Amino acid sequence: MKPVEIKKDIFWVGAVDWNSRDFHGYSLSPRGTTYNAFLVKDEKITLFDTVKSDFYDELLCGIAQACGGTPRIDYLVVNHLEPDHAGCLDRIVERFHPEKIFCSPMGEKALRSYYHHSESWPIEVVASGASVSIGKRTVQFIETRMLHWPDNMLSYIPEDKIAFSSDAFGQNWASTERFCDEVDRTALQSALADYYANIVLPYSPVVLKTLDALAGMNLALDMLCPDHGLIWRGHDEVAYALNAYREFALQKPTKKAVIVYDTMWHSTEKMARAICDGLADEGVSVRIMSVKHNHHSAVMREVFDAAAVIVGSPTHNNGILPLVADVLTYMKGLRPQNKLGAAFGSFGWSGECVKILTEHLSGMGMEMVEPAVKVKNLPGHDTFQACFDLGKKIGQAINAKLAS
Ligand code: FEO
Repeated sequence: MKPVEIKKDIFWVGAVDWNSRDFHGYSLSPRGTTYNAFLVKDEKITLFDTVKSDFYDELLCGIAQACGGTPRIDYLVVNHLEPDHAGCLDRIVERFHPEKIFCSPMGEKALRSYYHHSESWPIEVVASGASVSIGKRTVQFIETRMLHWPDNMLSYIPEDKIAFSSDAFGQNWASTERFCDEVDRTALQSALADYYANIVLPYSPVVLKTLDALAGMNLALDMLCPDHGLIWRGHDEVAYALNAYREFALQKPTKKAVIVYDTMWHSTEKMARAICDGLADEGVSVRIMSVKHNHHSAVMREVFDAAAVIVGSPTHNNGILPLVADVLTYMKGLRPQNKLGAAFGSFGWSGECVKILTEHLSGMGMEMVEPAVKVKNLPGHDTFQACFDLGKKIGQAINAKLAS
């Protein structure tokens, strides 16, 4: 895509990846994504971040067009070293020979370990709060460590009230539009939540601290530019994004439960439906998610704002089915908080499933609702009743929790 002038002499020069579905190698991006890079034309022409290496040519074209045909990069700011943002660093450095490359202290460590031949690069490590003049403008660097890697930082230009926030406030969203206010808000909100649930969630305590620190700095801000997706334009839009992140980070549960399961001969599946009926009887909205039909990142998007996670698996070779183990491993890494948990499953002879599932869920700090339900081979009336009762009990616990 052509570069887009988002403020006077400030250009989006990124790339739209319409075909991205495997985001960062572990999460789905059903709408594709973008790799946002920004070029500021001042006395020092400054590039903020690059793009995934496959899109180098597009970046180059964007830089050339934004520079009016004579491309030049004097300063390069590396807000984040993950390869979808720093994947073109070496080629940009070799082509433009920037005078300075700015990064955070952790950014330097990451840069050296990604680019083994970078000894001669003019790297300038910047402390959080440090500023550099690029001409009429100043760039202030603010470390946003663990949002989403240790090296992340945000670059702020007070003269333009604009911040380049790297991963924070991004969404996976491929489109011809560049601004959040140009697309459907419900879909965008869902994409923002999806991104948070799968990328940012484990760092929620850091998000809260960072939001407080930014609020304390009283930055005048009317444009927030993440490295993925659309740009938040205008004071109200920036406030919307900051507020959404605060709400996400607090992880307040909603009246919703997710039943995640796998099944061999449909016994565990039938139990899932009976548990669902019990929950629905208590007015709880339920998502039943077979792990054969739902990627772990789609499951996590639903778990993110749910009050309860109920997991079922048959016993298989003294364990649980592998796709259930996959979801649980993924979920544990994302550290969801404030959840109720419950387990269920069927078995043929040894029956360890429920014990294993309970260990997984309680190990994530979930408050377990008992008794878990386990059945040998095929569920009958008593098992369905036990499942329904478990669903009701979880529903009552959700209602009590939300009322408190
Ligand atoms: Fe898309 Fe942490 O980078």
